[in-house]
Amino acid sequence: MADKEDVLSPRTGPEDSSRLETALRPNTLDEFVGQRKLKENLKVFIQAAKGRREPLDHCLFYSPPGLGKTTLSHILAREMGVNIKVTSGPVLSKPGDLAAMLTTELSEGDILFIDEIHRLNAAVEEALYPVMEDFLFFINTGQGPGATTLKLAVPRFTLVGATTRSGLLTGPLRDRFGIVFNLGFYGEEEICSILARSASILGSRAEKEALALIARRSRGTPRIANRLLRRVRDFADVRAAGVVTRSVTEAAMTALEIDPEGLDNLDRRILTTIAEKFGGGPVGIETLAVAVSEEPDTLTDVIEPFLMQSGFLKRTTRGRVLTAKAASHLGFKLPGQPDLL
Ligand SMILES: Nc1ncnc2c1ncn2[C@@H]1O[C@H](COP(=O)(O)OP(=O)(O)O)[C@@H](O)[C@H]1O
Ligand SMILES: [Mg+2]
Repeated sequence: MADKEDVLSPRTGPEDSSRLETALRPNTLDEFVGQRKLKENLKVFIQAAKGRREPLDHCLFYSPPGLGKTTLSHILAREMGVNIKVTSGPVLSKPGDLAAMLTTELSEGDILFIDEIHRLNAAVEEALYPVMEDFLFFINTGQGPGATTLKLAVPRFTLVGATTRSGLLTGPLRDRFGIVFNLGFYGEEEICSILARSASILGSRAEKEALALIARRSRGTPRIANRLLRRVRDFADVRAAGVVTRSVTEAAMTALEIDPEGLDNLDRRILTTIAEKFGGGPVGIETLAVAVSEEPDTLTDVIEPFLMQSGFLKRTTRGRVLTAKAASHLGFKLPGQPDLL
């Protein structure tokens, strides 16, 4: 049923490269909803850098997927009035790729955005250290006694890195970022205002109550909120003359198998597996991943953060443990719990 999951699950679809998703991206810090502290600080850093006519310090954004890291990087470029070049850890596979990017594609002050920066290989990462510190790229030529090192000056630019977990970065790399921000999950009201803006960009009329219903099922994640809105809009177009009403939204959520807590099939399968195969836990992430046929990284980066933040799952030194909230939501009895009559 992988196809069905891909179509229905808002988390397993392709990355947001579609024109529509780009159209929903806020363009300025003021349009960027929530993350108040981060925005306040960034405004100061941007103003200070502009005042000194210097590039912004290197920035690292970390958060689970869909919380606004890529969006923020583009906003930074726009607010600084510079160009942004986008690449990712796995794409920069050798130091030469990095050198080419730095010398031919970047000008003074520009932003280089490296997504999934935790996936840089060691050689590229080491070449990056002097680049980040002194804007110097060292090229080693020859071998043995004849070996020499050439020094290449690169434009003073801003590196913006994004990662799903700061813990995946090596210490030396993390230490070279002057600005480090963790983006947290969004509150329901924040998601509601993101949805209201998206609905208006999409040209959809939507009931306030319907948007609140979608927000509650969005896992505190703007990307999921926008995807759900687009799916609900499909149901609205077919069944409710294009108006996103409360009842069409409820029907859509039932059809998409997303429950009132925002859990989808995969979440329920994971929680059910912990309950039924592992007695409620603790179970190690690798073992759990095998049991549900998912990658351990997907569980850790994409699925777990929300399940933990919303109190369905706990992480202990011995593994993942189901909470009483999960047991009561899904109707399990955990070992040691009294029978409920
Ligand atoms: N703070 C926000 N305000 C409004 N929309 C947001 C916000 N954060 C994210 N989005 C929306 O969610 C989508 C996913 O955000 P993105 O920056 O791609 O997340 P990430 O890079 O962290 O995976 C974007 O297309 C954007 O429309
Ligand atoms: Mg991104």
